Amino acid sequence: MSEQTTLLIRQAQLDETRWQSEPVREPDAGQLVCAVETFALTANNISYADHGTTLGYWRFFPAVDDWGVLPVWGFGTVTESRVEGIAAGERLFGFFPLSSHLLMTPHRQTPAMIEDGAEHRRELPAVYNQYMRTSADPLYRPEFEAQQALFKPLFATAFVADDFLAEQQFFGAGKVLLSSASSKTAMAIAHLLRARADVECVGLTSSGNVTFTEGLGCYDKVVSYDELATLDAATPVVYVDIAGNGALRDEIHQRWDSRLKYSCAIGGSHWQARSDTPPEHGPKPQFLFAPTHVERRVAEWGAAEFQQRLANAWQDFLPLAGRALEVTIRQGPDAIGQTYRDLLAGTNNPSQGYMARW
Ligand SMILES: NC(=O)c1ccc[n+]([C@@H]2O[C@H](COP(=O)([O-])OP(=O)(O)OC[C@H]3O[C@@H](n4cnc5c(N)ncnc54)[C@H](OP(=O)(O)O)[C@@H]3O)[C@@H](O)[C@H]2O)c1
Repeated sequence: MSEQTTLLIRQAQLDETRWQSEPVREPDAGQLVCAVETFALTANNISYADHGTTLGYWRFFPAVDDWGVLPVWGFGTVTESRVEGIAAGERLFGFFPLSSHLLMTPHRQTPAMIEDGAEHRRELPAVYNQYMRTSADPLYRPEFEAQQALFKPLFATAFVADDFLAEQQFFGAGKVLLSSASSKTAMAIAHLLRARADVECVGLTSSGNVTFTEGLGCYDKVVSYDELATLDAATPVVYVDIAGNGALRDEIHQRWDSRLKYSCAIGGSHWQARSDTPPEHGPKPQFLFAPTHVERRVAEWGAAEFQQRLANAWQDFLPLAGRALEVTIRQGPDAIGQTYRDLLAGTNNPSQGYMARW
């Protein structure tokens, strides 16, 4: 019987971790076991942990007591199946635990996907419970698995952010300020905004990440956080906040005040600098929860049209995804644990895309 290895994270103390080892569970009738083979680790996963309780991310893969299992995006292969229509050897892409295996209880399947219907997941957004069958994905390429795991889940958010802001005609502003501009989510948003003639996109980043961010070529201008005062505060802007840094957000709200037409909170990459106190100036920040927007557009456009538009946009983005990052493989529990700790501390290099393997 093989062993299942899982990284446990203390929910209230994210830098406290331990490895758990247990025998891989045998699937009952209607269940399957999937070996989680390779997955991406980015600041997004740290936000899952940071919001594990408030947004329910610890509920996907429950652990005991006050420990949590981190959700990650990656690829797995079905090793044992007692589900009709799903055979061992099937490769899946989706939202896995930071563990070597996942026991699933599929309650729905189509030629394109399998949906885990485990009791504790049923109330959670469906988008996280659906595993894409790579054999049925026309855009799947084995050689681009790293780009898919690193960017695709973030790209869906970028797609809805761009769509939402354009639908609202940028709230009357001609310029978007985007924080954590060196992040994958921000570069995807900037790439999509660049295709729109009526808006300029300014990337804000740490001074050490300015050169990398400029080199991406998707921003009209890149400015470091400590040079914010060099930007013209008389021009109306929209702020798209990927950093979630309270002091930075407050400075932007204060400088632009009524010229800040909309404040869109998306991320919290600067998770240690988060502030729950609303800014005193400008509009109230509005959190963009991607699954809500996806559901609205799916209802309006239909699922097929939504998927087609997303797929077209993704294909346009792939060249940038390919050249922006050098993929770094982190293999084995020690390297995976260290990568998690580096991401928590923010010491990782934005030019590296970290892919974990067991
Ligand atoms: N609402 C949604 O649906 C949604 C969807 C996708 C992503 N997001 C959020 O967007 C954020 C970015 O995710 P990502 O995966 O794209 O990130 P990423 O590519 O891993 O971002 C790396 C960048 O984030 C900043 N950073 C990361 N960790 C830091 C730390 N501990 N301290 C200070 N800065 C840190 C640095 O950028 P700078 O120097 O440029 O600040 C760094 O270059 C996450 O918070 C994620 O949860 C939200």
